[in-house]
Amino acid sequence: MADAVVKRVRTRHFQNAKEQGIKITGLTSYDMLTAAIFDQAGIDFLLVGDSAGNNVFGYDTTLPVTLEQLIPLTRAVAGAVKRAFVVGDMPFGSYETGPDEALHSAFRFMKETGAHAVKLEGGMRSAEQIRRIVSAGIPVMAHIGFTPQSEHQLGGHVIQGRGEGVTQLLADAHAVEEAGAFAVVLEMVPADAAKRVTEELKIPTISVGAGPHTTGQLLVWTDWAGLTQGRIPSFVKQYANLSQVLTDAAKAWAADVNSGAYPDDAHSFKG
Ligand code: KIV
Repeated sequence: MADAVVKRVRTRHFQNAKEQGIKITGLTSYDMLTAAIFDQAGIDFLLVGDSAGNNVFGYDTTLPVTLEQLIPLTRAVAGAVKRAFVVGDMPFGSYETGPDEALHSAFRFMKETGAHAVKLEGGMRSAEQIRRIVSAGIPVMAHIGFTPQSEHQLGGHVIQGRGEGVTQLLADAHAVEEAGAFAVVLEMVPADAAKRVTEELKIPTISVGAGPHTTGQLLVWTDWAGLTQGRIPSFVKQYANLSQVLTDAAKAWAADVNSGAYPDDAHSFKG
């Protein structure tokens, strides 16, 4: 999205991007330092994802993450940005029982964090929740395709929308658009299926491993910057190797401490 025309990114800029064929960029962020860096770099939106479960809290899945954990992280991110649009992720167990619970959780994000929108998982099954939140004036980013909160039902990290699965994907996409979502994330979907969804919908589509034909792209920042330990999804292209940078820095500092090279006079107070 062109920097010059936008001060604070708003939902209308997402829609303009869709209509004008301009790309949208998004990264996850869970803290004020990365939020400020990504904002200044011109990233259009920051998702305070429940992927914090894997990347902050050390869980194996996103399922244990709670509102109480995501609210302070979202407040830190929202407080650090000037331009980027901040999306708070509704954790598992904060919206599934129905529209009332969903609206209550969305209110908490909006009142307690300064986020500009919420995201929740599910297509047709979450349409009533989306409709209720939107009717209260809160923008909703939908999330279909592979939905990590349902990973046990889906049988693991399985690509969605393949073959006959495209029918369900399209039904989910139309359901969230009709319910009032301003954008929809497509996670781990074949590129041709994501292209079809993007062509059929009026709202912007955001790819997480859904190929190049969507309106925007979103990645988990720790994967993208090479900080994640162990396996990262094959659709992620790494743009840095922060793990190596930090390992080298830690080893160099420990060696200096052990040899007495740190702290030297320049890094000590004089009496
Ligand atoms: O929590 C998250 O980071 C997400 C994205 C992967 C879409 O939901």
